[in-house]
Amino acid sequence: MKLGWLELAALTAASVASAKDLAYSPPYYPSPWMTGEGDWSEAYRRAVEFVSNLTLAEKVNITTGSGWEQERCVGETGGVPRLGMWGMCMQDSPLGIRDSDYSSGFSAGVNVAATWDKRLAYQRGMAMGEEHRDKGVDVQLGPVAGPLGKYPEGGRNWEGFAPDPVLTGVMMAETIKGMQDAGIIACAKHFIGNEQEHFRQSGEAQGYGYNISESVSSNIDDKTMHELYLWPFVDAVRAGVGSVMCSYNQINNSYGCHNSYTLNKLLKSELGFQGFVMSDWGAHHSGVGATLAGLDMSMPGDVALGSPYSFWGTNLTISVLNGTVPEWRVDDMAVRIMAAYYKVGRDRFRTPPNFSSWTRDEYGFEHFMVNENYIKLNERVNVQRDHARVIRKIGSDSTVLLKNKGALPLTHNERFIGILGEDAGSNPYGANGCADRGCDNGTLAMGWGSGTANFPYLITPEQAIQNEVLNYGNGQTNVFAITNDWALDAIASVASQASVALVFVNADSGEGFINVDGNEGDRKNMTLWRNGEQVIKTASKNCNNTIVIMHTPGAVLVGDWYDNPNITAILWAGLPGQESGRSIVDVLFGRVNPGAKTPFTWGKTRKAYGPALLTEANNGHGAPQDNFDDGVHVDYRRFDKDNEEPIYEFGFGLSYTTFNFSDLKVTPLPAAKYSPTTGKTKEAPTLGKAGNASDYLFPTGIMRVRQYLYPYLNSTDLRKSSADPYYGLDAKEYIPDGATDGTAQPRLPASGSSGGNPALFDDLFQVTATITNTGSVTGDEVPQLYVSLGGENEPVKVLRQFDRVSIAPGQKVQWTTTLTRRDLSNWDVPSQDWVITEAQKKVYVGSSSRKLPLSVELPSVE
Ligand SMILES: *[C@@H]1O[C@H](CO)[C@@H](O)[C@H](O)[C@H]1NC(C)=O
Ligand SMILES: *[C@@H]1O[C@H](CO)[C@@H](O)[C@H](O)[C@H]1NC(C)=O
Ligand SMILES: *[C@@H]1O[C@H](CO)[C@@H](O)[C@H](O)[C@H]1NC(C)=O
Ligand SMILES: *[C@@H]1O[C@H](CO)[C@@H](O)[C@H](O)[C@H]1NC(C)=O
Ligand SMILES: *[C@@H]1O[C@H](CO)[C@@H](O)[C@H](O)[C@H]1NC(C)=O
Ligand SMILES: *[C@@H]1O[C@H](CO)[C@@H](O)[C@H](O)[C@H]1NC(C)=O
Ligand SMILES: *[C@@H]1O[C@H](CO)[C@@H](O)[C@H](O)[C@H]1NC(C)=O
Ligand SMILES: *[C@@H]1O[C@H](CO)[C@@H](O)[C@H](O)[C@H]1NC(C)=O
Ligand SMILES: *[C@@H]1O[C@H](CO)[C@@H](O)[C@H](O)[C@H]1NC(C)=O
Ligand SMILES: *[C@@H]1O[C@H](CO)[C@@H](O)[C@H](O)[C@H]1NC(C)=O
Ligand SMILES: *[C@@H]1O[C@H](CO)[C@@H](O)[C@H](O)[C@H]1NC(C)=O
Repeated sequence: MKLGWLELAALTAASVASAKDLAYSPPYYPSPWMTGEGDWSEAYRRAVEFVSNLTLAEKVNITTGSGWEQERCVGETGGVPRLGMWGMCMQDSPLGIRDSDYSSGFSAGVNVAATWDKRLAYQRGMAMGEEHRDKGVDVQLGPVAGPLGKYPEGGRNWEGFAPDPVLTGVMMAETIKGMQDAGIIACAKHFIGNEQEHFRQSGEAQGYGYNISESVSSNIDDKTMHELYLWPFVDAVRAGVGSVMCSYNQINNSYGCHNSYTLNKLLKSELGFQGFVMSDWGAHHSGVGATLAGLDMSMPGDVALGSPYSFWGTNLTISVLNGTVPEWRVDDMAVRIMAAYYKVGRDRFRTPPNFSSWTRDEYGFEHFMVNENYIKLNERVNVQRDHARVIRKIGSDSTVLLKNKGALPLTHNERFIGILGEDAGSNPYGANGCADRGCDNGTLAMGWGSGTANFPYLITPEQAIQNEVLNYGNGQTNVFAITNDWALDAIASVASQASVALVFVNADSGEGFINVDGNEGDRKNMTLWRNGEQVIKTASKNCNNTIVIMHTPGAVLVGDWYDNPNITAILWAGLPGQESGRSIVDVLFGRVNPGAKTPFTWGKTRKAYGPALLTEANNGHGAPQDNFDDGVHVDYRRFDKDNEEPIYEFGFGLSYTTFNFSDLKVTPLPAAKYSPTTGKTKEAPTLGKAGNASDYLFPTGIMRVRQYLYPYLNSTDLRKSSADPYYGLDAKEYIPDGATDGTAQPRLPASGSSGGNPALFDDLFQVTATITNTGSVTGDEVPQLYVSLGGENEPVKVLRQFDRVSIAPGQKVQWTTTLTRRDLSNWDVPSQDWVITEAQKKVYVGSSSRKLPLSVELPSVE
């Protein structure tokens, strides 16, 4: 019997891969069923009660999207009209509502990381959650921890937080708590190893002329997976995240959305994830294979965007009816989705979607894909509230002061301010003029792609600086702006007259489906865009008080100019969102004392960052192979390992005041010994009986929307209803061993609660240090605690704890934090568990990854 390529890809990676000597992902079955542990118990109880009342078709409806552009949101499932439940709405993005109106354009994740402020991360999450909730969204598609930022030019790094797993993990958790406290479901994405845009989808890559038939494979060893890429997802699961999105890429040559090792083993068994896994849009590549490997929701439902067919929907109903997929598995999918729904209070907060992702017109087709049902689509509900305040504050609190030779803060008595560079001005097409922000025109306040939102307005630096001078100045200041990056003569002229030249430059990146200026999502270089470097050079040649402000998604190479004595200050403002101009003015004029720290390293060369992003299809027409050989050594860990001097190190940032660190103390805390989890799970509950094919025929009299994905069958002939060309293969040939086994299963040693073995989160040490503000103005400092775990080939140090604290001049503050067992552990591959190695451990505290004045060796742990 012949196997379909889907089954082959999903289920026989073993033989194919070993033959070709490619990385291989071991099978892990069955797919763990939800247990309702911890915070999930009440939501689980209610979900079980609800799902117990459903027919198979209704359960299938909850798991499968209705098709691309078939409803108003970027993805919507079917509903259960019999019980008054309409389909669930999934909407981009991690920084606001994509493709909507009267909603806010928040700061990007990378800016949140730069604040190092847990409270601001929470407040932003809450504000975004409120907006989504009031537009009728059930699941906001964010936050992001994949990409983590292995490659500095990775196109979507800015959607996430930082290339450090702890900083990202903390910000993930706070964002999720904020979003879910507002009553919507968060979606931690993209799971996992989604570190570059090139080759993430074969079709997209073909569009760029790479003839490949499979997505890139991120080949990640087990230790690196646990200590780096999985780490922030642990924090997301611990924060109670309701959903996780599996990614486009493959991991060890098995697709993210049917990789049983990453989904069944790591996420659902080891981390005990209780919510549901949804596919990225078009990342679902197999029917039965993905079902058994742990996918719970297919988005947007069709086999490819716009197709009238689905791997699920009708096919999922059939796969239960023909006995291939056990009923308990579909029950579990539905229970996980409904549990997330109850957990965040969707039943209390729900309102139907009142906007359309597909048009800004007030009236249009509900089923946009097929032009059916002309109705009022956009009710133009304003959901912005006072969120501008949070955005402005994050904008200024995330602005990193990289250099300051006394030039900042500015006073209101400047003689002549030159504002130079296109990045200070407006996009001639309007702030939302390029779809999905897919251009670099005017000031940059978001990257591009699906991770964006429409702006309600965008305050440019030029506008805000001019307003500041006119509203608060002494009435004597001249202000001139030149926002053409090629008008170098004009720039030279204004710079030579200016008492201060404020130069605005940028670099951009985004998602792979849009190519901006030859950048296929990922940046093609690490230099400034447009003519930025020349603008800086021209200004600084003519003005001995040149201040450079950069809006970039990550590090750029600044080696040619950063130490020019005429450049008296340098600021990185990231991607600050709609309040960009006001945020930067708050810092420039000293209303806000900068306290941000760079959440990534600024190296002298690209090479210093380690391996290059993969831009060559290196495996013929097959999946390009991206071997993560750098292991856990990304960003500052790589610089430390290679003893490479950065220009600005991870965690660095200046203030208008100065701080001193002293009195490091470490106190052991009583904690129980670590014990690996043992025993077995309960057996899989089955909540219903499938019945017969005749129960699932299209109901008579139903108005069928064209191409809409329903859970029903065309006829009682299952093969015909499926139209799967490989229908009816002997299941024994492609069902992995144990995949349909619903009996009690052994529990993993590192498992035990949401996020893993609960003892990992026990506090083992208390650490205190004193921070003194030694300057003359109030300011924020970010005490950072790094640990050296010791041992061969381990990073010199890893970030483990931090806080942002505000300190008055002369004031001393005692900072107290704790170290958990997790903070001191390494992943031990043979025992598949976390261990505290024998190696001597050392704690460092200071103000950046390279300014660590305090250190002490840790006593050994039992
Ligand atoms: C990928 O392969 C490596 C090397 O064999 C292994 O350590 C790791 O656990 C595998 N990961 C997955 C997700 O298959
Ligand atoms: C499920 O059915 C039971 C009994 O048939 C009923 O009491 C309960 O309200 C129903 N629950 C839901 C959520 O529909
Ligand atoms: C599935 O969802 C669609 C769209 O909400 C709805 O029309 C249909 O009635 C639902 N089917 C069942 C079995 O509830
Ligand atoms: C792409 O590769 C396939 C083989 O996998 C080949 O048949 C096809 O002609 C190639 N297409 C182009 C445009 O090179
Ligand atoms: C069922 O899935 C197969 C692919 O596995 C697809 O070719 C077929 O069109 C699907 N059928 C329906 C009704 O969506
Ligand atoms: C807009 O940006 C694109 C690419 O970034 C550039 O090619 C184009 O010239 C710009 N247009 C205007 C009017 O600024
Ligand atoms: C790097 O890419 C940007 C954006 O495409 C471009 O403007 C710039 O000229 C490139 N830099 C170099 C050195 O080629
Ligand atoms: C610094 O600026 C002055 C003008 O104020 C200029 O004469 C000088 O050459 C500049 N220095 C450099 C290194 O560009
Ligand atoms: C900068 O240039 C101005 C004249 O444009 C001059 O008055 C001033 O002393 C210079 N400052 C320094 C530090 O060279
Ligand atoms: C089911 O019937 C509809 C309506 O006749 C048709 O459009 C569709 O292609 C059929 N599906 C399959 C898988 O044959
Ligand atoms: C059962 O149904 C699924 C979905 O249509 C199909 O892929 C599979 O081949 C069928 N299996 C058998 C044994 O009929």
